[in-house]
Amino acid sequence: MTASTEIDIKSLVRTIPDYPKPGIMFRDVTTLFGHPSGFRASVEQLVAPFQDQRVESVAGIEARGFILGGAAADRMHCGFVPIRKKGKLPAKAIGQEYELEYGVDVIEIHEDALSPGEPVLLVDDLIATGGTAVAAVELLRQLKAEVVGAAFVIDLPDLGGSARLTELGVPCHTLMAFE
Ligand code: PRP
Ligand code: ADE
Repeated sequence: MTASTEIDIKSLVRTIPDYPKPGIMFRDVTTLFGHPSGFRASVEQLVAPFQDQRVESVAGIEARGFILGGAAADRMHCGFVPIRKKGKLPAKAIGQEYELEYGVDVIEIHEDALSPGEPVLLVDDLIATGGTAVAAVELLRQLKAEVVGAAFVIDLPDLGGSARLTELGVPCHTLMAFE
């Protein structure tokens, strides 16, 4: 039996009202990640639709996308590519500005992280407005990688991010939704 068949992963996500500012219901995945079979089930379910596809790298978005993306890359026998907040990568990088549910930021990727045509799976913990994920797809496409899909544990569908990715031609896989 796999971890996925044993556990209700949604019940392991903790909600913190009014963090980081009033009106935001923060979906805290640390409680899910801290649960041994919860974490394993999440990673299993994230990669499941992509197991039979050609994927050479998993790109994970800082910070919680590193935790999931590293585990997903290991499970898929892929390399891992970090997409980081501005100023954190040591070698030459390209950047993309984006808007968050609560602010503005820039993410970056090393310019030599992927080869043209390389099939890559994008991973993060959560998609809300899609600002972060759309910026990540733009970076991956600037490197001419083939974005085979994007996988998130949590979708906040009312904020429209998963629909934005679908419109961009990126299949979007999510494990649960919070309205
Ligand atoms: C969260 C989450 C996603 C992003 C989703 O990260 O991990 O990366 O927000 O929001 P969006 O779809 O509206 O762009 P956050 O910005 O809190 O950064 P952190 O992981 O560094 O805390
Ligand atoms: N990132 C953007 N919106 C979020 C939310 N509501 N909970 C956790 N992370 C988020």
